[in-house]
Amino acid sequence: MGCFATGVTIITVDLDGEVHGMTANALASVSLYPPLLLVCVDHSARTHAHLHARKRFGVNVLAQDQRRISQHYARPVEEQVEKELSARFDRTALGTPVLQGALTYLECRLQRAHEAGDHTIFIAEVEDVVVRPGEPLLFFRSQYRKIGEKVPD
Ligand SMILES: Cc1cc2nc3c(=O)[nH]c(=O)nc-3n(C[C@H](O)[C@H](O)[C@H](O)COP(=O)(O)O)c2cc1C
Repeated sequence: MGCFATGVTIITVDLDGEVHGMTANALASVSLYPPLLLVCVDHSARTHAHLHARKRFGVNVLAQDQRRISQHYARPVEEQVEKELSARFDRTALGTPVLQGALTYLECRLQRAHEAGDHTIFIAEVEDVVVRPGEPLLFFRSQYRKIGEKVPD
């Protein structure tokens, strides 16, 4: 799967006023009508319990200059160094944290969860979307990448 180039997202959950974030790229579009997406989360991730408990989360698609934010939210909480982090968050009307500077934000409400091996597939309805201009951060063969040129027609 490392050969399958993806974007990078931060899944954000509100925990009684605190922001919990997790880096995720196991994300896919599921349905257009209604708009559904899925994210696969490891049973051992704290986010796994938070998604079940809160049933509401944000998907923040990272911009090219947000590699450090991706690295930060991919670490166990005890290894996260807050003072190195440049992430700032706004809140939606529903209280979900929105990462400033992200390329796209999707407001998600959990619809169902399916067990699959050591991960759970969380399927959510997308209730709101904010798209901003800019370039994405990419992940390919365990490395962060920038987007290249358009392939000629
Ligand atoms: C680029 C990248 C993509 C990742 N994608 C996922 C993913 O889709 N699902 C997942 O469970 N973990 C994924 N991880 C690992 C989690 O970010 C990592 O285990 C994190 O520490 C879990 O945080 P939590 O315990 O606070 O939930 C990814 C890590 C990186 C660097």
